[in-house]
Amino acid sequence: MIETRWPAFVGLVVGTAWLTSIVDTSFAFDKPTYAAIVCLTTLAVILLALGRFLPKGDTPTHKGHYLAVPLQETHANGAPRDHSPHPHHLPDDLAHQPSLRKLRILFVVLVLVICARAELLREIVANVQCSRGTWEPVVPLTVAIWDWISIRRRRRHQTELDDQTATIYDVWESRIMNSSYRYLVVVALVCFGSLGAIRAIGSPPSTHICTSSLPYSWYVPLAQYFGTALDCIIVFCIHGLLYTDEKGGTRGPSTRFSAVGWAFLFAAATLSTIACIYYYASDPDDRRKILSIPDVLFWGTTRLDIVVCLTVISALFCTYFIGAMSTSMVVMFVSVSVRTTSFAWNHTHPFPVGHVGLGFLAMCLTILGFAFYFHMGVTSETEEANARHLTFRKAPVWLYLAMLCLLAVQLCLWAVHKSSVGHHPIDLLMWEANTRHEAYVKQASASTTLEEAVRNYRQRYGRHPPPGFDHWYKYATDRGSIIIDDYDSIHRDLLPFYALSPEEIRDRTWRMIANPFNDASGISIRNGKAEISPNVMPTHRWMLDGIIEMIGHFAEWLPDMDLAFNMNDECRVAVPYEQIESMREAGRQFGELNSPVENTFTPQRGHEWKPFTEEPLNETPLIHRSFQRTFLEFGSVGCPPNSPARTKRHWDTSKICTSCTAPHSLGAFLSNWTKAADVCHQPDLADSHGFYLSPAAFKGAHELFPIFSQSKAHGFNDILYPSAWNYMDKAVYSPNDEFPDPPFAHKNTTLFWRGATSEGVSPGHGQWRGMTRQRMVALTSPESAANTPPQPLLLPSGKKQSYAALPAPLLARLLPASVRIVSTIHRCGGRDCPDQAAAFAPLADPTDFQSHWSYAHLLDLDGAGFSGRFLPFLASRSLPLKAALFREWWDDRLTAWLHFAPLDLRGQGLWATLAYFAGVEGRVRGRREEGERIAGAGREWAGQVLRKEDMEVYFFRLLLEWGRLTDGRRGEVGFGWGV
Ligand SMILES: *[C@@H]1O[C@H](CO)[C@@H](O)[C@H](O)[C@H]1NC(C)=O
Ligand SMILES: *[C@@H]1O[C@H](CO)[C@@H](O)[C@H](O)[C@H]1NC(C)=O
Repeated sequence: MIETRWPAFVGLVVGTAWLTSIVDTSFAFDKPTYAAIVCLTTLAVILLALGRFLPKGDTPTHKGHYLAVPLQETHANGAPRDHSPHPHHLPDDLAHQPSLRKLRILFVVLVLVICARAELLREIVANVQCSRGTWEPVVPLTVAIWDWISIRRRRRHQTELDDQTATIYDVWESRIMNSSYRYLVVVALVCFGSLGAIRAIGSPPSTHICTSSLPYSWYVPLAQYFGTALDCIIVFCIHGLLYTDEKGGTRGPSTRFSAVGWAFLFAAATLSTIACIYYYASDPDDRRKILSIPDVLFWGTTRLDIVVCLTVISALFCTYFIGAMSTSMVVMFVSVSVRTTSFAWNHTHPFPVGHVGLGFLAMCLTILGFAFYFHMGVTSETEEANARHLTFRKAPVWLYLAMLCLLAVQLCLWAVHKSSVGHHPIDLLMWEANTRHEAYVKQASASTTLEEAVRNYRQRYGRHPPPGFDHWYKYATDRGSIIIDDYDSIHRDLLPFYALSPEEIRDRTWRMIANPFNDASGISIRNGKAEISPNVMPTHRWMLDGIIEMIGHFAEWLPDMDLAFNMNDECRVAVPYEQIESMREAGRQFGELNSPVENTFTPQRGHEWKPFTEEPLNETPLIHRSFQRTFLEFGSVGCPPNSPARTKRHWDTSKICTSCTAPHSLGAFLSNWTKAADVCHQPDLADSHGFYLSPAAFKGAHELFPIFSQSKAHGFNDILYPSAWNYMDKAVYSPNDEFPDPPFAHKNTTLFWRGATSEGVSPGHGQWRGMTRQRMVALTSPESAANTPPQPLLLPSGKKQSYAALPAPLLARLLPASVRIVSTIHRCGGRDCPDQAAAFAPLADPTDFQSHWSYAHLLDLDGAGFSGRFLPFLASRSLPLKAALFREWWDDRLTAWLHFAPLDLRGQGLWATLAYFAGVEGRVRGRREEGERIAGAGREWAGQVLRKEDMEVYFFRLLLEWGRLTDGRRGEVGFGWGV
């Protein structure tokens, strides 16, 4: 038995470190009760199986010596005792030995408390955005206090050093080592050090909503305190069952471990029973949700289960040998060290704002305290007569070395941490944006003749231009299109379709349009005329009219074909990465530059398209996921299988996932707009956007169906086209006498936004608390400021600048913002309607769209799809600040930080960005001239490349390419002029 001591100790350290590193990103927390049942059952099975192998009878470990409760005082080295207990302690201690009855009580309490703990965990995880800093490090402290109360207080000093030769140091050491407070003091030191370190070094709070109008804003923190209290009780109970000897001391390790195993089994059974009752009490829709266990959840839980088993079994063995205090100390110390060290390692930059110096100090205390704890144990072992057992029989030199190493690493991390920046990140980003834009324009409009345009096309895409390219070129140049060469977004969208045969594309288009359920409408082009196909929803008629009008300008050069248009705002087609990559590869193979091609589409190709019958098609390739989470099933399937979006779940929404923001951020500011659209490194987006949380209308496919959409999120394979919304002036920039567009300097600096809760539907499970629109409103409204966590601002400090987290109420006073929901709460159900109404009160009155222009800073946010207001915002003299998941056809044309100010969807840099432009009185000089410059540059550039003519030119080229893709002789047609 005793030989398992070291493996158990190593297992404990490794297991705890491993668990700490995976627990924050485990899928298991999607269903905490399921995970709890799985873990408890596995643990129970292992423990009961172990019970068969462990020694049945009394072992020397606990027998015949110093029968007592003390946590640290028992002899555990397995060797026969060679000192007898101090006689006058024995009766006293014996009085505190648990009887069998006590053991039974411990057992029952353990079962109940584990169940209660699992239930609390479920509650906390369900509303985790309201959680506060953890108090778990106090668990060892409570054990130490209990230990002190029950034993040490009663024991007087037993050994006074009377050796005359002792130095002052020896006397003091002996005093300290024998003081009854010693463990208490040291454990307290470690606990408070750990608490301080965790508070000082950690992710900043997120903007997920936890308003005071909702009950969970107080009950989640309360549940956390309770949870910690229950953890203490669990530790006591396990200590009692495993470590303590009862009168007569007849329990062997086998009995002890089996007892704990049975307790786990009973707890698992109780939890399962509760889950069953809950299942039968809920309605059928919810039942299906309860039963569904997606693959990632299953594997995530399995993985967590393995690590939990390793850790818990090791912890139980350690408890058996060295008691609960030392075991919980080790667990706490290891997890805090891993947490703080890895965070400090990954965050050496000034953002996120952390109290790094304070954290380092706290870590020093923790390390010192921990080393002292073991030193004390070892020393007292040699000092004290009854040779307390200890964790380590011999002075563990390597332990001190490890501590020293840890201290050195922490010191280095503290030393290399930068806390201020020399230049404002936005200055750098604006400068860089200029360069990038110049490079873009240079390559996008290099061609000045058709011949050059053709040559450039071949070079870029490795194939001939589509038939009719000469007409397109003439059309584009006649309308003054600046962009001639760079149509990479068309290329990217169409590339995978080369893997499908023209027949297949035609068939899939037909299947998409023929069933009205699909919410896709068709447009047929025949003999140079575009027409709407039958069964169109009247509400969407304007959209198709707009498309027809746009196509009408160039339809005469288009081949006969049918097109399926997405009538919903949400994008549709997400082909898994494994398939789409090979399809793209097939696309890259297409094109033979040396073969001759014919500059006409196949004539008479109209009849190849299956006609639409009166009788609608009944089968559909689409999966209906309205009001449901879509991130795992659709949002991230386009990502590589080992990317964070597919392997990690950032379930703790109370904290910003800094590893998700880092790749596309510079400090608190968004630095790479393109990269920010890539969801593969951003698993936390699953909880941060209405489209992923609960879209209003989502009918998606995993097969590559050809559908034209106005906007799409990363990973979707819809084909982007210029939205009819903008083409038909559904939202238009037209200042008038009543609502003029004054020069930038005369505008009100308030950040302005008005909109509806239409990003997604919140049918009653609180989804709205994560949606971007709602979060931005809560973040900026003075009413909810009291519940908003402090937000970072970059403030000048001397010659440099450093981040400071300012309380939200102060920010709301310093920086003007008017970001509000208009008139009523839409798209909600159940308690989410009144909850939102309370959280966002007072709702704003509707305003005229043209009133926007009196504000200098216009916030732009996604709706259910792209934001239709952005182009008018851009055309105005105001500065748009845009946060978006969806990307549109123009995404390559605009440059963030040159034409508009980009914001992260999480909102962490919103105040800091606004402060840069608007200024903070007495602290930050407002850079209004920079704001004006960006507003002007955006306006000017949009006036050149985002005109209605540019939409037509883009659409024309897109449809020529599409015409070739759907042509039966795809490889033989093309614009081969000049070969
Ligand atoms: C932004 O990210 C994209 C895609 O990852 C990358 O190609 C590009 O170079 C990045 N731009 C900058 C300025 O870092
Ligand atoms: C700016 O707009 C806000 C919100 O509409 C308003 O309260 C404020 O008075 C305006 N400030 C000025 C200087 O007009």
